[in-house]
Amino acid sequence: MRAAAGGAAAAGLGSSVIVLNPRLLEARPGPMAANDRIGLGIIGVGMQGSGLLRTALRLPGVECVGAADLYTGRLRLATEIAGDNIFTTRDYRELLARPGLDAVIVATPDHWHARLVKACCEAGKDVYCEKPMSHVAEEGPEMIAVAKKHKRIVQIGSQGISSVVYAKAKEIVASGALGRLTLVESSQGRNSPDGAWQYPVPPDASPRTIDWDTWLGKASRRPFNAIHWARWRCWMDYGTGLAGDLFVHLITGINYIAGTNEPPERAQSTGGIFRFNDGRGVPDTLTTLFTYRQYPVYMRVSQGSYSPTATRFMGTGGVLELSGGGLTFTPQDGKDRSPGSFAMAWPRELREAYVRNWHAENDPKPGQGDVAANSQRYVAPTGYSSLREHFHNFFTSVRTRKAWVEDATFGHNAALGCHLANYSYFNKTIATWDAAANKIRG
Ligand SMILES: NC(=O)c1ccc[n+]([C@@H]2O[C@H](COP(=O)([O-])OP(=O)(O)OC[C@H]3O[C@@H](n4cnc5c(N)ncnc54)[C@H](O)[C@@H]3O)[C@@H](O)[C@H]2O)c1
Repeated sequence: MRAAAGGAAAAGLGSSVIVLNPRLLEARPGPMAANDRIGLGIIGVGMQGSGLLRTALRLPGVECVGAADLYTGRLRLATEIAGDNIFTTRDYRELLARPGLDAVIVATPDHWHARLVKACCEAGKDVYCEKPMSHVAEEGPEMIAVAKKHKRIVQIGSQGISSVVYAKAKEIVASGALGRLTLVESSQGRNSPDGAWQYPVPPDASPRTIDWDTWLGKASRRPFNAIHWARWRCWMDYGTGLAGDLFVHLITGINYIAGTNEPPERAQSTGGIFRFNDGRGVPDTLTTLFTYRQYPVYMRVSQGSYSPTATRFMGTGGVLELSGGGLTFTPQDGKDRSPGSFAMAWPRELREAYVRNWHAENDPKPGQGDVAANSQRYVAPTGYSSLREHFHNFFTSVRTRKAWVEDATFGHNAALGCHLANYSYFNKTIATWDAAANKIRG
């Protein structure tokens, strides 16, 4: 068991385990300077938005100005989290007009992201927008342009990449310890109704408590449907399927760790509905092969069979695996462990001489172990929250005016991977991104 700088050794699992030091949030004792206060608003106080609001308000200097949601129950929830005196409204434009508002969380379903990010930027507000950044690929460049034009911070919400574990993984890859990266594989599996987005509908959901027409946004008009409102992920009119919901975190993580900020050159998907044939329009199982310029990526997510979430960076110098809230790096030396098998079919005299020489040259010397035994595991400390770190990065950007890595361009490139995967699945073709025409092509 060993300890490394910046970490403490913990009980080993064969290899040593290092508990990473949390990157300490700035201590801000005493009263905040007036310009350090951040007035925060939120649009969409649902399953994700409510958690975001709770976490964001625990950071120093952050005060909730108000909340917008189209369901009255969620406005009540916002006051339960942030206090009775916050401003609440169904109309996000009223929120954007409130005095003292600096930054806005956008945590609505995907089909509203682009419109709301644009509205926030045009109103001079910085934005924390949930993933995937866009609902369709074409929205991405427009969102980047509007953020630039109004000099706004736009950070996307794949919070995992703000974690110390991802920072460590990035450091290991950048050090060259993996040698030449040859493949990245990433997978996740669920096997339960909740994992398949079959969420319960609140008993008071009705056209009286929900502004359905506004919620539909750019989607085609249809009569009030509480199932669509609660389980919007199941239809491409509002969501982005497994790719936009789950691939996006994996792609974001891979891009961050590998230092990539571009879309894949192409994507080819297969999948289908194998367990949850409940009227949904998106597959419950999706596998995609991505070709990135520097490495291929194999990705799969299933809602029909559980498997732990894992991403493996596979290189000539070893394998780095992210799983179970930590990472394990197992080095490889790429050498033979025994004489070459082809020589076993040589005539005896030649074979025996070769084998003798091979052992003389290659057998481990005393004190030399197998490099794989130097496998190293790093974990985040107990109670660590990458979401808190992600908000810390966001609020630091808001204060310093320097964007953090998951800005709109980064978010667009990650989202493009998802859109290409979906295009390939639905059109049964290999999908590529035509950046000049701002279009996906089959
Ligand atoms: N980063 C993560 O780990 C993570 C996890 C879950 C969800 N998400 C993302 O968060 C977003 C929200 O997901 P969710 O599960 O919380 O959805 P949800 O349906 O639980 O909540 C969305 C809320 O937005 C409201 N809304 C929709 N359009 C609105 C509008 N125009 N104005 C005001 N309110 C509006 C709805 O009424 C609803 O209350 C999605 O983009 C999703 O992909 C991210």
